[in-house]
Amino acid sequence: MINLETMLSDNAKNMKKSAIRELLKLVARPDIISFAGGLPAPDTFPVDDLRAAANVVFDKHAAKALQYGTTEGDTDLKAEVIKFEARQGVSIKDDNLLIVSGSQQALDMIPKLFLNPGDYVIAGRPTYLGALNAIQSYQGKVLGIPFTAELDGFDMNALEQSYAQLVKGGGKAKYIYVIPDFQNPAGLCWSLEKRKALLQFAYKNGLFILEDSPYREIRFLGEPIPSIYQLDQQGENRGVVINLKTFSKILAPGTRTGWIMAHADVINKLVVAKQAMDLCTNVFAQKWLAEYLKTGKIYDQIKKTCANYREKRNFMVEMLDKYMPKRADVRWTKPEGGLFLWIILPSFISTDDLLIKAIEQEKVAFVAGSGFYFDDPERNAMRINFSYSGKDQIEEGIKRLARVIAKEIQEHESGKGGQNQPLGV
Ligand SMILES: Cc1ncc(COP(=O)(O)O)c(C=O)c1O
Repeated sequence: MINLETMLSDNAKNMKKSAIRELLKLVARPDIISFAGGLPAPDTFPVDDLRAAANVVFDKHAAKALQYGTTEGDTDLKAEVIKFEARQGVSIKDDNLLIVSGSQQALDMIPKLFLNPGDYVIAGRPTYLGALNAIQSYQGKVLGIPFTAELDGFDMNALEQSYAQLVKGGGKAKYIYVIPDFQNPAGLCWSLEKRKALLQFAYKNGLFILEDSPYREIRFLGEPIPSIYQLDQQGENRGVVINLKTFSKILAPGTRTGWIMAHADVINKLVVAKQAMDLCTNVFAQKWLAEYLKTGKIYDQIKKTCANYREKRNFMVEMLDKYMPKRADVRWTKPEGGLFLWIILPSFISTDDLLIKAIEQEKVAFVAGSGFYFDDPERNAMRINFSYSGKDQIEEGIKRLARVIAKEIQEHESGKGGQNQPLGV
């Protein structure tokens, strides 16, 4: 075999295995309660309705569904997506829309389009690691902006200061990556004021905003806040926001279908980028989704999913209140939507280390917070998912998690604890 390392491109050398993908393998082990993945609850999948829609495709559109399609996306699906968005007050035309193989494909296309090696993306600390990995694979860099439960969005002062410093040092940023609705990992939602302020910042500095919204419709408490894409549309309409949506969380991730909304010029460039990747998104899936959307059942489906997750989120918060060590430095977010909550532990605990102990000693898994930082990670937090597990598993899993955390605190306080060392997992 040829020495692979000598042959790899610089881009390939920058690619990182997804820690989350690796951890998802743990879900398969029956003895482990895993809060690690970001999986929707399988009992929310509308199997009968999706089967009926697939039958319509075979009965009526087989020749088209089994053929190559256009890169831009299937016309029927695009028409349905335009209606779906219009119901939420987002008005787009056909040329503002590109159907993709899940938002993850879009997260790879955008840095491919915009980044030269060494260019910057502005993103939260923490943020979705799938976006970070894609940026890294194109040799991009990330200007990290603090993002905490108390901040309801970026710390705008930190953003202004860090950006000014970057520019002064000759750095070039191209876009700002944000997940304003129930961010992955922390489950936090940006306030209207912060959304508006970010848009003004992007206008002022000539930057695009990449608004990633997989959880936008999965709001189970409170009132929706306009997306940044909408705010631009309703205001100066400068076309600087690129908005990513997906069927993964509102319907089923196995559809592997999402959509990008953006200015027609940006869509045109993205179409070229996508052509080289996969020619077009799975045509059968697109026809299938179009038939399903035509039934209008998606709106009830989303309501049911939200009700399901509201109950699980409330139950998980209840269990955390009941079992977790009662200390000011052990706290968690209480998201109004999405799939995750974020637990912050005392600064002397490294969740990289704790994860190994949690799996070995208590057979419970989570995602260590460090994976959600491009550089200089904070290590005392973890992401846990509440959508996938049943209530019994949630109670048992939180009990186990609380035990391993309590033990870690106790060992530290009795002087036996190790230092906050990265494990390199
Ligand atoms: C913030 C965020 N963006 C994008 C994705 C990828 O979504 P998709 O399944 O549409 O590729 C995920 C998946 O969990 C996510 O959490």
